[in-house]
Amino acid sequence: MKKREFIRTSIFAGTGLILGNISGRLIKKSDRKNKNKKVIAINGSPNEKGNTAYALSIIGEIFNNENINFEIIHVGKNDIRGCIACMRCHNEKTVCIHTTAEEKKWIESMKTADALILASPTYFGGMAGTMKSFLDKAFYSSSKDFRNKTGVAVVTTRRTGASMTFEGLNQYFTINEMPVASSTYWNNIRGLTVDNLKQDSEGIRTLQNLAKNIIKMI
Ligand SMILES: Cc1cc2nc3c(=O)[nH]c(=O)nc-3n(C[C@H](O)[C@H](O)[C@H](O)COP(=O)(O)O)c2cc1C
Repeated sequence: MKKREFIRTSIFAGTGLILGNISGRLIKKSDRKNKNKKVIAINGSPNEKGNTAYALSIIGEIFNNENINFEIIHVGKNDIRGCIACMRCHNEKTVCIHTTAEEKKWIESMKTADALILASPTYFGGMAGTMKSFLDKAFYSSSKDFRNKTGVAVVTTRRTGASMTFEGLNQYFTINEMPVASSTYWNNIRGLTVDNLKQDSEGIRTLQNLAKNIIKMI
């Protein structure tokens, strides 16, 4: 190898090594930063492999790439009674006494999250009834423990009513000092089946951008 060629090769190799090292360190730093971050999603659909679960999987993919811990709690197919305004949670400073052991466990998990995603299909222009029954009790009795967590609403529809469902879910955050993460459109993806949802490229992009913004906020 001629002298000039040797010098050029050495410079390239050296630069490569330095860049490799720096990017390696940057990746490790971001891993470290996100390692203890946790997002919990409440899925209000009765269908654990349905459209709402698919919407959450789009967000989960971005979280996975960024080392965010992500847990989905499926509440939608459970027999959950609503709040009966007995006020015992308020008067006795206790978690709702009309919650099952499983519901109590979910509420305890929610308290450990940096961000809470409330995801629901649209039923007659609102969130699914089971979801509302659970959230009314969880937030009425425990909302002080959700303060300052990032709040995120995600909605699926076959066609119409997403804005009302979105509005309904956001009510839980905006009365409880929870900063709300948003995206480049309202957080909705639509279609009858998962295959239909896969055609909704704007919906997918909206959820991907939402996930990135959640990461920035936590
Ligand atoms: C009882 C019921 C009411 C519904 N109401 C609406 C509605 O008002 N607007 C709409 O676009 N889709 C409506 N749908 C369709 C679902 O919201 C939609 O298919 C959703 O993506 C299903 O999500 P999932 O597969 O996670 O359960 C309704 C479905 C059911 C079962």
